[in-house]
Amino acid sequence: MLKFESYSESKVRAINDFLDNNLRHFRGCVSQRFSPLVESMQYSLESGGKRLRPLLIVASAECVGISTDDILPAACAMEYIHSYSLVHDDLPAIDDDDFRRGKPSSHKRFGEAIAILTGDALLTESFGLMMQLQKKFPAENVLSAIDLMVQYSGVRGMVGGQLLDVTAEHPNYNLPEVEFIHIHKTGALILGSVLLPSRLKKVDEPLLGKLRRYGEAVGLAFQISDDLLDSEASLRYSRGPRKKPKPSYSQLMSHTEMKQKMNGLIDSAVQALASEGERAAPLLAIAEFIRTRKN
Ligand code: IPE
Ligand code: IPE
Ligand code: MG
Ligand code: MG
Repeated sequence: MLKFESYSESKVRAINDFLDNNLRHFRGCVSQRFSPLVESMQYSLESGGKRLRPLLIVASAECVGISTDDILPAACAMEYIHSYSLVHDDLPAIDDDDFRRGKPSSHKRFGEAIAILTGDALLTESFGLMMQLQKKFPAENVLSAIDLMVQYSGVRGMVGGQLLDVTAEHPNYNLPEVEFIHIHKTGALILGSVLLPSRLKKVDEPLLGKLRRYGEAVGLAFQISDDLLDSEASLRYSRGPRKKPKPSYSQLMSHTEMKQKMNGLIDSAVQALASEGERAAPLLAIAEFIRTRKN
């Protein structure tokens, strides 16, 4: 079985190199007057994140026969969207978190106005990155991939989930509601990452169905593992003390039940792609990483 660490090391390096080079090039193309914004974008994009979503895009690309080099602009566009979602998520009006990845969150470092604009910039420039795909893929496939990004990151996906997260009536949560919120606020970008390469290269229906089942299961499993680590305090260390209550499995289930649910989801993700052989090995390695992750 492919080990996650041996797979992710070179892929994360490729993702980080692309992010660095792209931002350096971008800095050179915009007026010096905008450099505070480029600096704050860089701060939020810098290493420290696991790069889970770009890794899923690269691994799913491999599964459908697209090279890492060709998919990197899309992988990094998704990381831009993820980073923007975290910058806005940490704002006083949302979760009011002072730390992210062990460092001051964007608004603590640069102030609220610049943090809001940093999120705006990352979101908008993610579409600039998606446009780079035109060098390698037909324009209509690129449009289809952009359509998917809109679907999974916008109102029908992550942003809608964030709305439900912030408006949920604490403590009247119930399991279907918490699950619905998790599937949208976190699961959507993860499922969208798994499906994105299939918009750039045609995939047969059975494989698409398997990718969808894998992505749905891994997306929910990831948020359960996040809630588990959060309640075990290992995440709180890098994110600082929680100031606001939030809908979480830990309010509704014991640790053991959460672990069982998460393991069941990872098992079903693995089963969905088990018959696909070598080409699905990276996706399976990522699923196993989520099962045992410690950060
Ligand atoms: C954190 O996501 C927020 C959630 C959606 C659960 P990650 O744990 O993927 O964040 P980084 O990028 O690795 O810090
Ligand atoms: C973050 O969820 C989800 C998004 C930003 C879309 P949480 O608020 O639960 O995650 P942390 O604890 O801030 O990373
Ligand atoms: Mg939140
Ligand atoms: Mg938060």
